[in-house]
Amino acid sequence: MSSVVHSKIANIAASLGLEMQLDLDFDSIIKNLNDLDLKADCTLFCGDNIDVLASLYESQQNNVDFCYIDPPYNTTNSFIYNDTRVSQQSGLFGSHSSWMSFMLPRLVWARELLKDTGIITVSIDDYEQPYLRILLDTIFGEDNFIGNIVVCRSVNGKGSKKNIAVNHEYVLVYGKSSKSKILGMADDTSKYDKEDEYGRYKVDGLFRKKGDASRREDRPNMFYPLYYNDEGKVFTENTTGNLKEVYPLDSKGIERRWLWGKDKAKNEAWKLYASPNGVIYVKNYSTAEKRTKIRSLWSDNRYLTERATKQIKDIYGDKVFETPKPIELIEDLLFSHTSDSSLILDFFAGTGTTAHAAHNLNCIDGGKRKVILVEKDESIAPSHIAAKMGFNLISDITEKRLKHISNIDTNYKFSVHTIL
Ligand SMILES: C[S@@+](CC[C@H](N)C(=O)[O-])C[C@H]1O[C@@H](n2cnc3c(N)ncnc32)[C@H](O)[C@@H]1O
Repeated sequence: MSSVVHSKIANIAASLGLEMQLDLDFDSIIKNLNDLDLKADCTLFCGDNIDVLASLYESQQNNVDFCYIDPPYNTTNSFIYNDTRVSQQSGLFGSHSSWMSFMLPRLVWARELLKDTGIITVSIDDYEQPYLRILLDTIFGEDNFIGNIVVCRSVNGKGSKKNIAVNHEYVLVYGKSSKSKILGMADDTSKYDKEDEYGRYKVDGLFRKKGDASRREDRPNMFYPLYYNDEGKVFTENTTGNLKEVYPLDSKGIERRWLWGKDKAKNEAWKLYASPNGVIYVKNYSTAEKRTKIRSLWSDNRYLTERATKQIKDIYGDKVFETPKPIELIEDLLFSHTSDSSLILDFFAGTGTTAHAAHNLNCIDGGKRKVILVEKDESIAPSHIAAKMGFNLISDITEKRLKHISNIDTNYKFSVHTIL
C-alpha cells in the first residue's frame, strides 16, 4: 500500500517541478513497527521522520486526530539541528525548492496518517510561509485551509535581520477534509458576571420569544404569568402572595409568548432571572464545554519565545536547544483544535514540548490525549552546549523531557523506539 503513497508523492512533486528521492526500504522498517502498541502517554521514535511516518502507515493510517509540527524554518542559522536547505536559484521556487522537497513527502505521509476529521497545524515564519502554503494547498487542498494564526513571538522583534523588527510567526491550520472541525478556545469566564448555587452566569438571552411565531396566538399555552421577587428569582405561581407579576408583553404592549411552556418553566425556574424592572432572561451559565471561536491573532506573553527559553533552562539547567516553543502555545493549540482524547503526532519534536503540553492538559481536564513524537537520532556537535552537558543525540534531549515529566508525575508512561 505504501507504493500508492509513493506515487502520490511523486505526482505532487512532478506537478510542482520538485526533485524527489524515494528510495526507502519500507518493508524492513514496517516489520519493525507492526507489533507496536501506543498504550503509553507518549511514544517517542528516534530516527528520520520520513522513515517513521512511512513505517507508521501500516498501523496508523487514518488514525491520528491532530498533528502539530514545528519544522526547521530554513534560517541558515547554526542551531543544534541542520537549518540550511537552500538550493540553487532554479525552477519555479528558486532557492526554496530544496526545503520544499524536504517537506513535501513528510506532509503527504502525515496526511495519510490523519483521520478524515484530522487537523494539521504547522509553525513557520515569513521566509518559508508562502512556500509551505503552496505545499499544503496542493497536498491538503485549498478548500481545507482553515486559517493562518499570527503568533506574537517576541515583543521587540528579537533576532530580526533587516529593517523591520519582526514580532510574529505563523501557525498554518489545514483540515484533512471538510469534516475537520476545530473546537475553539475556552470561553472567557470573566463575561459571566453573576453567580448562584448552580455556577457563574450572564443574562443575555430574553425569555420572551422574538421574531417569527412569537405572538400569543401562535402558541397560546406559552402565554402565562410569571412572578418574581426583588432578588431576581422567578416563579410560576405567586407562592407568597406578594411577588410581582409579569406577562410576555413587548415594548409596544403586544402580547407575545415565552420560550417554554409552563411545566418546563416550573421545573427549570432556577434557570430564569428577572431584572429589577421585570424583564425575564434565561441564565447563560459558564460551562467547560462552551467554546469561543479562535482568533487569527494570538498575542499574549504566554506565547513568547523568551518564555520557552526560560522553560528549557528550568528543565535542562541550560539553553540546550535554540528554538523551543512555549508550552502554553502548544497547550492552547491542542485545547482549541482537538478533543481531550486525541491521538496527537509531532514529527519534528525537538525538546518534546508537544508531549509536555498534552500532559499538562490531561492533568487539568482529565483528558486521555496520547502523543507520538519523532526526533532525529543525529549526533550533536561536540562544541554545542547540549553536548557539553552530556547529550549525544538530539533525540536524547527529547527523551530527557519525557523523563522530566515522569519524574513529576509517576503515572506518566512513555516508550522510546529507535527504528533502524
Ligand atoms: C524547530 S525544532 C522543533 C522544536 C520543538 N517544537 C520544541 O518545542 O522544542 C525542529 C526539530 O526537528 C528535528 N528534525 C529536523 N529534521 C528531522 C527529520 N528529518 N526527522 C526527525 N526530526 C527532524 C530537528 O532535529 C529539531 O529538533
